[in-house]
Amino acid sequence: MPLNFRTYHELTDPDRSGLPEQIGAQRRRVAERVAGVRQVVAVLSGKGGVGKSYVTAGLSRAVARRGRPVGVLDADLNGPTAPRLLHLPVARCTLRGDAIEPVVNAEGVKCFSMGLLVEDGRPLAFRGPEAESHVWRGALEAAALREFLADVAWGPLDLLLVDLPPGIQRFQELADLLPAPPAVLVVTIPTPESADAVRRALRAVHDRGAPCLGVIENMTGGPFAGDAGDSLAREFDTPLLARLPFHPGVHAWDALAQRLGSAS
Ligand SMILES: Nc1ncnc2c1ncn2[C@@H]1O[C@H](COP(=O)(O)OP(=O)(O)O)[C@@H](O)[C@H]1O
Ligand SMILES: [Mg+2]
Repeated sequence: MPLNFRTYHELTDPDRSGLPEQIGAQRRRVAERVAGVRQVVAVLSGKGGVGKSYVTAGLSRAVARRGRPVGVLDADLNGPTAPRLLHLPVARCTLRGDAIEPVVNAEGVKCFSMGLLVEDGRPLAFRGPEAESHVWRGALEAAALREFLADVAWGPLDLLLVDLPPGIQRFQELADLLPAPPAVLVVTIPTPESADAVRRALRAVHDRGAPCLGVIENMTGGPFAGDAGDSLAREFDTPLLARLPFHPGVHAWDALAQRLGSAS
């Protein structure tokens, strides 16, 4: 495995005085790695299962069809879905010098995902004492995100979409690591419950000073009643970029990519 994960034992070793310096060095490396990326966009919502990963994949493919260089960083370390959604070839990441090359799909979308490192279907397993598992797990996940951003060589990109797990924690870590807070795309389903969860996430985004590019309402016109997309867009004075039905066709994705191109 090319990544240099530190174990719980190493992180909690009495002599961990070098850690702040290591993190500072990593942040400088992150800045170098994303220097050729025109825009980093975090895809988030307050909730799981609303289609963040599905939308990230569909949008990235549409952006690639428009001939723009695009990448997807799958930052869901425990439920990586990007390789399957992007139909990535079964490939191992290659290491070139001190950099990891992302895997490229048939449409030209570059992708890096924990799913490329762990065996199929197996959750990420961290070694550590059971009692403190939530503590070291969080610390190691943050460390893994740092390693990803510091080590993956994206090359020049118009857009790097970061597919986040549910909640706001990973967004905060991402904003801490990047030279500037990433722009944000929020995904919601039409229901009021989803609107509530997304509202909390959008407040955190706002407090962080991150620009919001717009709201995408997903699974519109199906069993979920509500107008979360419209109401969130109004409330946060941000565009409603798309209302995507179940199984949107190519035209819907292309229209979203076009709207995003003019919004960003
Ligand atoms: N518009 C859609 N049409 C059909 N299936 C969808 C749509 N959006 C999401 N899905 C499916 O719903 C499930 C949850 O989506 P996913 O992208 O994994 O959610 P999240 O990343 O927000 O947790 C997945 O099985 C995905 O394929
Ligand atoms: Mg997901």
